[in-house]
Amino acid sequence: MSSVDAFREAPYRSIKQDTYFTCYDKLLTPYIGKSPVVVDVGVLSGGSLFMWRDFFGSGARIIGVELNPTATKWRDHGFEIFIGDQSSDAFWDDFFQQVGNVDILIDDGGHTNFQQLKTLHKAIPHVRDGGVILIEDTHASYMGNFGNPSKYSFMNFCANAVHSINDRYFYKKPKNLIRDNVSSLEIFEGISAFKIDRRLCKKSSLIDNGGENDHAIDMQVGDVAMMRNALWANSKIVSKFQRKSKRVKERLLSFKNCRQFFS
Ligand SMILES: C[S@@+](CC[C@H](N)C(=O)[O-])C[C@H]1O[C@@H](n2cnc3c(N)ncnc32)[C@H](O)[C@@H]1O
Repeated sequence: MSSVDAFREAPYRSIKQDTYFTCYDKLLTPYIGKSPVVVDVGVLSGGSLFMWRDFFGSGARIIGVELNPTATKWRDHGFEIFIGDQSSDAFWDDFFQQVGNVDILIDDGGHTNFQQLKTLHKAIPHVRDGGVILIEDTHASYMGNFGNPSKYSFMNFCANAVHSINDRYFYKKPKNLIRDNVSSLEIFEGISAFKIDRRLCKKSSLIDNGGENDHAIDMQVGDVAMMRNALWANSKIVSKFQRKSKRVKERLLSFKNCRQFFS
């Protein structure tokens, strides 16, 4: 069953942006029928609990997290419900102690920067390899009633997380929650999807397939003049000062050329 069918057939109300189903089908389909442990933050009228059970199959363990204590009524329908505040450290510590590790967490709770950041940070260590965390309604990062724009918006955090994933190659800082646990981050309209797989969070290294080498020159920048410049810059007769001033000039040129793409 597709996620949008599960949504439509849920017997109780659920509200989602209509673009989210593409993301759900793409990222969550591999878990169908595999009895995943799924955390649904933000229960409201219960519809999404039913939607996820229909989508993943009856073997899935669907756990709702909600601030509103009336949500405990969904326990009668076979769901596990935890009442608490997603921005509380103590809540999540107790939650994961009771629940154990999970496969999927979908945050459709309060959507403030702090709630989204806290939920992500508390959940990452408890998501199994191969699992995923979806933070929903990230357009809140551009909305005034959620305290944005802000340097510390959730989407600005995502921009930093992109660097943490990509600079794994340099390993500048030894410990980093994103670099060490998040194998990739996919941005959808309104959803940021953090794929957790520690096995893939390693520094890459260059490998050679050992095939015949015809010693072709690697032009890299695709420009003969640049290639000549590189040979010149590496030459022993060129002074340190000349090399440095050339590099500064090249940087300024690159800055000028690239600026147009950042608007
Ligand atoms: C957008 S609704 C959830 C919608 C639901 N997932 C659905 O598909 O219909 C958000 C829910 O998050 C709950 N919520 C808001 N702040 C919360 C918090 N700090 N901790 C836990 N739940 C919270 C609200 O009470 C509300 O029921």
